[in-house]
Amino acid sequence: MGQLVEDLLTLARIDEQRPLDMKPVDLMVLGHDAAFDARATAPDRTITVIGLDGGHPRSAPTRGDEARLRQVVANLMTNALRYTPEGSPIELAVGVAPVLHGHSDAILEVRDHGPGISEDDAAKVFERFYRADTSRHRETGGTGLGLAIVAALVAQHDGSVRLEETPGGGATLSIRLPHVPAEDQADDVDHADEAEAEDDQEHAYSNGISPPQAPSTKPVVHKQREGR
Ligand SMILES: Nc1ncnc2c1ncn2[C@@H]1O[C@H](COP(=O)(O)OP(=O)(O)OP(=O)(O)O)[C@@H](O)[C@H]1O
Ligand SMILES: [Mg+2]
Repeated sequence: MGQLVEDLLTLARIDEQRPLDMKPVDLMVLGHDAAFDARATAPDRTITVIGLDGGHPRSAPTRGDEARLRQVVANLMTNALRYTPEGSPIELAVGVAPVLHGHSDAILEVRDHGPGISEDDAAKVFERFYRADTSRHRETGGTGLGLAIVAALVAQHDGSVRLEETPGGGATLSIRLPHVPAEDQADDVDHADEAEAEDDQEHAYSNGISPPQAPSTKPVVHKQREGR
């Protein structure tokens, strides 16, 4: 009950567009911290932080509200632990990948090796209160808000979240945020970029959820990419 109230409050805050506390954040740090926490709650698991190509993890700097981004990763990790068999390994893959027009994304993926999410459910799992209708999942007692919160928080950060199948089976939840190299964050932001961001509200949200309206303090983005 406490968690339900907490989740509903989180969604209410997003809906009313409370300003984000935007600061430099490295998704690699968040990945390492989430892995550390998960190892403590599930010592039987092998939880590794890797690069997007399976090698060493790479720094993945962005700008964001650290507390909220930590919640995004925690929600994904809770699901990976909850919906996969005991002992099943989990990888957190972090790094930077190019998108169009010379821009790139900071990416964090939670890759599990459980039953995965069926195509029918995949379209709906980001909706509020949606839970996949399997008896095993029903027993676990979530409320179906975790991924809705993930989608809303990531959208608020001008990012996207997508669900893919892990090679060999399982669910991979991948969040992409604008890559903002640390050196670009030394001075305060280029306001030309802000103006440009305002002109380009269109953004592909692979989960099909529209982003909330721009918060009163607009999240500062490196630069909006076209054609995503
Ligand atoms: N990694 C996963 N593997 C398999 N199924 C998943 C996974 N993550 C989510 N799901 C399915 O998607 C549904 C929605 O997930 P979501 O996190 O939104 O809600 P929940 O986990 O049921 O509850 P809450 O997160 O609010 O405690 C889950 O009920 C589950 O059926
Ligand atoms: Mg959940």
